[in-house]
Amino acid sequence: MSLLRAPLLGLARSHRIRDVVTRLPVSSGIVNRYVPGEATEQAVQATRRLVDDGLHVTLDFLGEDTLDEAQAEATVTAYLDLLDQLAAAGLARNAEVSVKLSAIGQALPGIGQKLSIENARRICQAAHAAGTTVTLDMEDHTTTDLTLSALRQLRKDYPETGAVVQAYLYRTEQDCRALAHEGSRVRLCKGAYNEPEEVAYQDGHDVDKSYVRCLKVLMAGQGYPMIATHDPRLIKIASALATRYARMPATYEFQMLYGIRPAEQKRLADVGEKVRVYVPYGDEWYGYLMRRLAERPSNLTFFLRSLISQK
Ligand code: FDA
Repeated sequence: MSLLRAPLLGLARSHRIRDVVTRLPVSSGIVNRYVPGEATEQAVQATRRLVDDGLHVTLDFLGEDTLDEAQAEATVTAYLDLLDQLAAAGLARNAEVSVKLSAIGQALPGIGQKLSIENARRICQAAHAAGTTVTLDMEDHTTTDLTLSALRQLRKDYPETGAVVQAYLYRTEQDCRALAHEGSRVRLCKGAYNEPEEVAYQDGHDVDKSYVRCLKVLMAGQGYPMIATHDPRLIKIASALATRYARMPATYEFQMLYGIRPAEQKRLADVGEKVRVYVPYGDEWYGYLMRRLAERPSNLTFFLRSLISQK
């Protein structure tokens, strides 16, 4: 993996750097490439454009690691408003939401896990009423067990709630086996955080090999795999596995991030695959942007140019 990955992921959690960088307007090239806007209306407009292009969407109201109960509540309200707007625009059939438990209170001392599950339940209820679903994003490894436990509780009432697993963690193949049952929506991604070697593969090839092993478990199983990657090789392998396990297109889906490989998103949809685009929006875009830069340090020059031209 790139030498710049770990420092960039470290910066994703730096408040000092965040304060400087977030003076960039969301309209500046590098931010705008990955985030369509700060307002709900802009997110809904972006969703409309993607849906008109034959794509599905999952929307993420940006924010994470909050230690402020009022902030967690504001995030829940933003999701409820978003779900109302998606339903009113007739988009809820094609657009769901992705939620980070740390944005709705998981890290609050003492009450965090209980509060974040209650908050997630309110979002699941609103999504269900709007005719759509929720997927629980997966964050760093210290939260994996808590998030999977929250998922089990939410699925008692909302079995359609989606899980996310990260191929870079050693544990994930085992988690896939537990999650590959009927009705279980599971997003498989490589993983975007800076994880120690005690818990995660450090070498990109090992992560890819783990991704393929996990993919085999999910594609052979009874659940609904959501193949989240831009990696051309893994996309090819996923298609071959779909053939091997006689899966019809709507029994699994591909997922990619807004602004990354849009031509490939369209190509897959045009050949009949179900493709969902992850659309982040809101003003808390700093951590998200830094993780995208860590995946593609060649974007750094573009990013630094945006910062300098600000002055
Ligand atoms: P990889 O990083 O190897 O990239 C493969 C190719 O994709 C590159 O060669 C390049 O062409 C293109 N590409 C990738 N990143 C790019 C970028 N930033 N800019 C331009 N091109 C780029 N992670 C997590 O920990 N928890 C989560 O909940 C989620 N959720 C999630 C949802 C969805 C829909 C996606 C697609 C991804 C996530 N992720 C995530 C992020 C994921 O873990 C991973 O960090 C990124 O998807 C990048 O990994 P790839 O599989 O794309 O491979």
